[in-house]
Amino acid sequence: METKRRVFSGIQPSGNLHLGNYLGALKNWVAIQDEYDNYFCIVDLHALTVPQDPKVLRQKIREVAAIYIASGLDPEKCVIFRQSKVSGHAELCWLLNCVARFGELSRMTQFKDKTRKGGVESASAGLFDYPVLQAADVLLYNAHLVPVGEDQRQHLELMRTLARRFNHLYGETFVVPETMIPPTGARVMALDAPDEKMSKSSPRPGSYVAILDDPDTIRRKIRRAKTDSGTEIRAVPEKPAITNLLDVYSGMSGRPVAEIEVEYEGRGYGDLKKNLAEVVVEGLAPVRDRAHELLDHPAKLDDLLEAGARRANDTARPVLESARAKLGLD
Ligand code: AMP
Ligand code: TRP
Repeated sequence: METKRRVFSGIQPSGNLHLGNYLGALKNWVAIQDEYDNYFCIVDLHALTVPQDPKVLRQKIREVAAIYIASGLDPEKCVIFRQSKVSGHAELCWLLNCVARFGELSRMTQFKDKTRKGGVESASAGLFDYPVLQAADVLLYNAHLVPVGEDQRQHLELMRTLARRFNHLYGETFVVPETMIPPTGARVMALDAPDEKMSKSSPRPGSYVAILDDPDTIRRKIRRAKTDSGTEIRAVPEKPAITNLLDVYSGMSGRPVAEIEVEYEGRGYGDLKKNLAEVVVEGLAPVRDRAHELLDHPAKLDDLLEAGARRANDTARPVLESARAKLGLD
């Protein structure tokens, strides 16, 4: 029997999932699901690295599950589950903590960015350790491929380093996973600040289009999106805002940026925004509708997640056992 290579990826159940999550992650997961043995996780333990309201977290977990399925992930082809329901993630994280180095974690730009405002003194130890838990997520399944957005590149490099180091110190144990980053939409920028990435934790709703935004909200947000000086519609470094809009257009329509540039030659920013809004509305409306239908039946979602966790546990257990044994913990 042919065995498929394994894919693992995840999204945190915090804030509102947005166009960046859709284009940088979800859309590619859906596109490749037939070719691989897929594990798509709701990384609720990662969400705890910054304070969460338990009631909101509970709801967000279901919302992410609904969005996964509404985006087109097929539970028959993908194991969809919550990280906190498979205890191996936390356990392998500890084993890898003893292999990861303080210096390595100190160099993670996401940690530096997230602590820039509040300072490192008050950051949780979990936030510092975030990339090690992420490494545990993937290595626990011996996954070959990790489809993510551009912002995860450094975390993936660390993950590869930890896998190699563990294998070197204790003998072949883990698959060294490869990073898969999509050609468009890998780094969607904030609509109101094209020098910042579109982020779930942004306090400014105008900075992102949420996957669950209604059509009029999407239209308004795109209409108000920042543009660059000049009038030409070209993806060039001097035009970060227009470049971002073109990248989103390309990601949502599946058409190359160069083709869209040609179509908009001699036309204005207003035209581009109006049509882009329709492309985004058209792409997201079915996802939103389906997600709301699924959220009307929370017990079904919970059952699906429970079944996913059982399957995930079955795959994870032997890998965890082998890591424990290599360390002398058998
Ligand atoms: P997070 O929102 O941090 O849980 O990220 C979940 C997934 O979405 C990861 O694969 C990220 O790389 C991807 N992602 C998050 N923000 C963006 C963005 N602005 N553009 C593209 N991909 C993103
Ligand atoms: N850190 C990722 C993000 O914020 C989410 C994540 C957690 C993840 N574990 C993972 C992504 C394992 C890929 C594989 O985007």
